[in-house]
Amino acid sequence: MASLETKFAGLTLKNPLVAGSSGLTNSLNKIKDLEKAGVGAVVLKSLFEEQIESHSEKLSLSSDYPEAIDYINTYVKMNHVGNYLDLIRSAKAACNIPIIASINCYKLSQWTEFAKNIEAAGADAIELNIFLLNAGEFPDNYPEEFHQNVVRELKKTIHIPIIVKMGKTISNLPGLVKKLKALGTNGVVLFNRFYQPDIDIDKEEIVSGPVFSNPSDFNDTLRWTAIVSGKVPEFDIACSHGVHSWEDAIKGILAGASAIQLCSMLYQKGPGIVGDVLISMEKWMKQHRYKNLSEFKGKLNYTNIASPALYERVQFMKYFSNFKQ
Ligand SMILES: Cc1cc2nc3c(=O)[nH]c(=O)nc-3n(C[C@H](O)[C@H](O)[C@H](O)COP(=O)(O)O)c2cc1C
Repeated sequence: MASLETKFAGLTLKNPLVAGSSGLTNSLNKIKDLEKAGVGAVVLKSLFEEQIESHSEKLSLSSDYPEAIDYINTYVKMNHVGNYLDLIRSAKAACNIPIIASINCYKLSQWTEFAKNIEAAGADAIELNIFLLNAGEFPDNYPEEFHQNVVRELKKTIHIPIIVKMGKTISNLPGLVKKLKALGTNGVVLFNRFYQPDIDIDKEEIVSGPVFSNPSDFNDTLRWTAIVSGKVPEFDIACSHGVHSWEDAIKGILAGASAIQLCSMLYQKGPGIVGDVLISMEKWMKQHRYKNLSEFKGKLNYTNIASPALYERVQFMKYFSNFKQ
């Protein structure tokens, strides 16, 4: 029988399918259902610094006393963080799979404070959901430096594995991943999917775009997984954004991923799809005579193929010059 066991960011997973951070991972019952469905690990819904602050700000507006405002701020923050830590503790007590916490902050001091508490609550690892878009207000290199500063600070504070969930807007992705690896980051997720804006042309208003990814989003994820896997060897990548089938999961591993994060597919098809994906992956491995994932992980990454340009822009010209309607 083929083994689907994998190692990702210092954790041993019984298989590479990881439930990505979302509303599907924000309660103990949902986490237990995902474990029962067969996922190898769960990333909890992110704890957002802004969410906590906006709650305390709303409450603070109703008071004229600075002491009361301070008290409300501290209380709301403790309560939010407390609930999150309770979820980690209860998930750890009830489940056997790794439980990865997730935080999204913008102040460096908050990243380290949350992370310390999360480690103490027993999380197996922490995923940093860094959402930083440079719309021109930061110096050119600011997002890259911010990623490194957060990791540098956290490495001084906690000992559990640190995973960085990357956005797609980094100008030199392999270069930054190399630096994050050197700072002691244990793995990266390629990629997060940020809020998608759209325009309502009747109302002439900005509205929310599609919440879920499409299968066509996967090809870019695959390209960067292959490039980063080739250029930053011996480093763990979780492929995410656009995984909608068992074939995508196999492709992600061939490109160099150690784990595969699922989110939109779980929303759209339900946790039951996990079992089907695992059965099909195992069947494919048997057909291709692979006994374990390491036998084909990265086989088609950037450095293991004869023409790395196949992952690059040169293909663009070929593709469009051959395209016939
Ligand atoms: C409803 C919803 C809520 C999400 N919440 C979070 C979150 O709290 N933290 C986070 O890091 N990512 C969050 N994500 C992003 C997913 O974890 C994932 O990275 C993204 O959807 C791309 O993967 P997919 O193509 O499998 O959906 C959310 C996604 C969705 C659809």
